[in-house]
Amino acid sequence: MKKKKFLPYSRQVIDEEDIESVTRVLRSAWLTTGPMVKEFEEKFAEEVNADYAIACSSGTGALHLLYVAHGIGPGDSVILPSMTFLATANAVRYAGAEVIFSDVDPDTGLMNATHLRDAWTRACNKNIKAVCVVHLNGQCVDMKDMRREVGDVTLFEDACHSLGALIRDNSGNKVKVGGCYLSNATIFSTHPVKAITTGEGGMITTNDEGLARKLRQLRSHGVRRRQDFTEVDLADSNTKSFMDPWYYEMRDLGFNYRLSDIHSALGISQLKKLKYFVKQRNSLRDRYEQHLCCLGEHVRPLALVSSCIPAWHLSVALIDFKEIGISRSEVINQLSIKGIGTQVHYIPVHQQPYYKNRYGTLMLPGVSTYYSRCLSLPLWPGMDLNDVDRVIGALAEVLGINFDSDTSFAP
Ligand SMILES: Cc1ncc(COP(=O)(O)O)c(C=O)c1O
Repeated sequence: MKKKKFLPYSRQVIDEEDIESVTRVLRSAWLTTGPMVKEFEEKFAEEVNADYAIACSSGTGALHLLYVAHGIGPGDSVILPSMTFLATANAVRYAGAEVIFSDVDPDTGLMNATHLRDAWTRACNKNIKAVCVVHLNGQCVDMKDMRREVGDVTLFEDACHSLGALIRDNSGNKVKVGGCYLSNATIFSTHPVKAITTGEGGMITTNDEGLARKLRQLRSHGVRRRQDFTEVDLADSNTKSFMDPWYYEMRDLGFNYRLSDIHSALGISQLKKLKYFVKQRNSLRDRYEQHLCCLGEHVRPLALVSSCIPAWHLSVALIDFKEIGISRSEVINQLSIKGIGTQVHYIPVHQQPYYKNRYGTLMLPGVSTYYSRCLSLPLWPGMDLNDVDRVIGALAEVLGINFDSDTSFAP
């Protein structure tokens, strides 16, 4: 019997247009700090309806830049959910501030207003400088609730999972994630498993011109060149150096978090396919949802939230492994033997030894319940509906559940 190809839980989809876009840059004069970066930023900003987009070398770098640009540092704290990738929290620590972990809904993995309030109460005397929500799996946190809860405090969106999703604004209109209608800034990642890829890369979007300027400077060593100086800077100056053509200065300590033109060229080309990628991911996920609802009381898809129209990044099955009588490791190993890749997103960040040593043991029951049941099944735009049927058939077999893909659809 012919062995079926291994189906990874996720991967990029690259076509000839992407390859041409990159090779064109390799033949050009600019490999970095050139025109492709600007074009990628402009197209990305246009795509999400934001005034400004700032490209970075990773989503992690984007988070770090945001915290630093807001002056968040030692003595400050940032609230964020524990059900996220390490980077959301680690970037707070890079800035020297402390992390306050919030709980999440056990059926969606998303933070809500109650979780945020609880975290705030727990933080009592800590100086909360910002809240960073995470739009997990392609669904979004209710931003109206979040803005109401945080008042004037800075609100960031980690939308690494949710490029292409729509959320509801204060008037109930559907608006694009990244448009920052209710937040100060949003960050994205363009790692290969994300909605679009640049290999490695990240993006920050905002509608705040001053913040955008600061982020661009911090991204490149904190350097300001002649064109960056404002009227106030010029008036302040007691030197004629501003007039020298080579003049630059560093007032703040910055980084090298630049994205190259090579990466940006891939991003421009990938962005053209975003709508197709999202549509494809969503239709695969719909098929998963129909099937997962037919695998008995101990298996189900994520609960849906009404505050957004998702752009599914992961297809997560919530499985009560204990009730079924099989460990998650066994399921992952058996699926792998059948040629199916899966993943667990994520080990709760507050349970990592680094954070346990720093903050002690923390009880977050929603995070623990979510983590105990989640399993990410293959989802990427190169798959077709037959692949989904194959995954669910294999999962059902491993779990010892009867499943017939032909009868799994609702009439
Ligand atoms: C929710 C979340 N935040 C932040 C990041 C960091 O992005 P990057 O890998 O581009 O640094 C990721 C990437 O996996 C992520 O999933």
